[in-house]
Amino acid sequence: MPAPRILILGATGGLGRALNRHLAPDHETVLWGRAELDFERPEAIAAQLKAQPFDVLLNVAGMTSPDVCEMQPEKARMANVIGPQVLAEYCHALGARLIHFSTDYVFSGEPRDVWKEDDETNPVNVYGRTKREGELAVLQASPNALVARVSWLFGPDKPSHPDHIIQRALQTDDLAAVADKVSVPTSTVNICDWIERIIHEHPETSGVLHLCNTGSASWHSWAETALEVAAGLGLPVKTTHVKPIKLADLTQLKAPRPLMTVMCNERLQNRLGIEIRHWREALEEHLVEKHRQK
Ligand SMILES: NC(=O)c1ccc[n+]([C@@H]2O[C@H](COP(=O)([O-])OP(=O)(O)OC[C@H]3O[C@@H](n4cnc5c(N)ncnc54)[C@H](OP(=O)(O)O)[C@@H]3O)[C@@H](O)[C@H]2O)c1
Repeated sequence: MPAPRILILGATGGLGRALNRHLAPDHETVLWGRAELDFERPEAIAAQLKAQPFDVLLNVAGMTSPDVCEMQPEKARMANVIGPQVLAEYCHALGARLIHFSTDYVFSGEPRDVWKEDDETNPVNVYGRTKREGELAVLQASPNALVARVSWLFGPDKPSHPDHIIQRALQTDDLAAVADKVSVPTSTVNICDWIERIIHEHPETSGVLHLCNTGSASWHSWAETALEVAAGLGLPVKTTHVKPIKLADLTQLKAPRPLMTVMCNERLQNRLGIEIRHWREALEEHLVEKHRQK
């Protein structure tokens, strides 16, 4: 059977670039950024999709900054609810597979062990609310669609928190990070592997699925772990110590953030029949790969 033709929406973003790098060698991938399809023009979407044959649509496009969403709620709704809903309607009518990406920020952040797929959502900001509405709109329009929730991404295609903290530690030992907010740092390299397996080995997977590494971290412990790995690799970081601060100290944030959004990945482990590695191991691999030439 020929490999499915995969259309990636949001291809200019971090996860979009990662998916293309992983899938392009063995698949026919088509990359669309906002220039090719803009969720703020929903009336044009069906005709644009009609002109491009595909079997699987990976939607990693969306308005992803909580602060921008808070300031532009109408645009956030177009990008995170209306656009994905139109995609789902089109895919359902066509019989194409839709994998739509969502976030741990659909949860309230109240204290608990972990959040499971069917736990009640209760987002605290516009980003989380529009992403949750988008999940529901997608699944209503296309019950066979998969909603893949991810959290705290890192990987080679877009610098994120651990890369930024290492860059800063090369300049100064005056570092601070929030210690009272936790989630699961997750490798985009791992996500790409899981998505490829789902497409090929478990195409019937639908509903909501948490795609995250194992374990949990705060922005603070994630930062200190990254610095310890960097120091171990011989990077001249000025410290591996980061001052712990509270989320409430970040008074410049426009959107409230949920404090505890660690997702459970048991359903993913059972579905794929694999043991998913700890985020620390994945982070170490990322940093070794990134810095080994330097
Ligand atoms: N990064 C994380 O830590 C994280 C955590 C939890 C969940 N997620 C979810 O994972 C997915 C991918 O995230 P990411 O980090 O790869 O995002 P990203 O780097 O911010 O990329 C977002 C993509 O969406 C496109 N886009 C934005 N507004 C659009 C619009 N109105 N119409 C069409 N395209 C639009 C952007 O295009 P332009 O570049 O042209 O604006 C870009 O290609 C998202 O669903 C996000 O909610 C990410």
